[in-house]
Amino acid sequence: MGRYVVTGGAGFIGGRIAERLVARGDEVVVLDDLSTSSERTAPEGATLVVADLSDERTYAEGLKGAFDAVLHLGAQSSGEISHLNPARDFDVNARGTLLLLRWAEASGVSRFLHASSMAVYGSVEGPVLETAPTKPGSYYGVSKVAGEAAVRFFAGRGLQTTTFRMFNVYGPGQNLANLRQGMVSIYLAYLLRGEPVVVKGALDRYRDFVHVDDVATAWLAALDAKGAADRLYNLGTGRKTTVAELLDQLGQAFGYPAAACPMTAADGTPGDMHGSVADITRIRTQLGWRPEVTLERGIPEMVDWARSVADATGRERKV
Ligand SMILES: NC(=O)c1ccc[n+]([C@@H]2O[C@H](COP(=O)([O-])OP(=O)(O)OC[C@H]3O[C@@H](n4cnc5c(N)ncnc54)[C@H](O)[C@@H]3O)[C@@H](O)[C@H]2O)c1
Repeated sequence: MGRYVVTGGAGFIGGRIAERLVARGDEVVVLDDLSTSSERTAPEGATLVVADLSDERTYAEGLKGAFDAVLHLGAQSSGEISHLNPARDFDVNARGTLLLLRWAEASGVSRFLHASSMAVYGSVEGPVLETAPTKPGSYYGVSKVAGEAAVRFFAGRGLQTTTFRMFNVYGPGQNLANLRQGMVSIYLAYLLRGEPVVVKGALDRYRDFVHVDDVATAWLAALDAKGAADRLYNLGTGRKTTVAELLDQLGQAFGYPAAACPMTAADGTPGDMHGSVADITRIRTQLGWRPEVTLERGIPEMVDWARSVADATGRERKV
């Protein structure tokens, strides 16, 4: 049994990871400012500390006692929003990560797991390896590169770190009210309201969609792995899905015929990537992890979940 801090633990991915830790008997402190989440979405059984990662007072006052590891998922998590307020994005994702690392080191925490993103690569042609150069196309991607650099710096000082460059994570618990983050949840939110999906950008763009349960399994595997220090992993499926294919899967889950999902084309968002797909050889071989949930299973299950939590207007009722 361990004692862990999960930043962003009231959010989509951090919430799922925190739930899994609580379920296996670990003690979890969630640090979250609830900017894109709420007390309702914080996992039951965890202690919630409502505080801002980018505020130095958080570290002087907010986190008490000894911890075995930090699982850092708290972030401004939308590429689109990063272009509205780049400095805030950098404050949270880069400076916040640095402050958290400094606190972790000073508090004697030995393990630090960090949520980075495929956004650090920018647009890629084929499956991308961890050794590829980082060429972010958004302020969000730039802030994640800076966060990664800070993590690597502390790894050099002895902190045992693991960074996950996560691809498009989807699944139950994703925020259906936020139309600026999460391609699957955004499209799903339109369909739930009975409206055509507003597709910002080309239909031949492609992504690598990985299910949140698979993501949580990878994080727990890294947390428990002995000697898994100073590691960097792509966390995706290695499978390429175009926007048109995703729409088709979603449309069919709503009962529309194949290739007939209602949609409206709109201009792309700043910094959006054309293509993104992971090479997952490293995480497969080093962590023994592999994705289990296919899109063909994950999408209909997510649609069922979304229907169960949405009211008649398509707004989220509970998660
Ligand atoms: N969802 C994806 O597809 C995806 C892909 C790659 C990387 N990531 C990264 O994974 C992490 C989790 O993403 P998510 O999809 O769960 O997003 P999310 O927005 O649901 O969760 C982020 C959480 O961080 C909290 N937060 C934001 N700013 C904060 C601050 N200043 N102080 C404390 N808490 C703060 C939010 O309230 C929220 O609960 C993020 O770091 C994100 O950048 C997500």
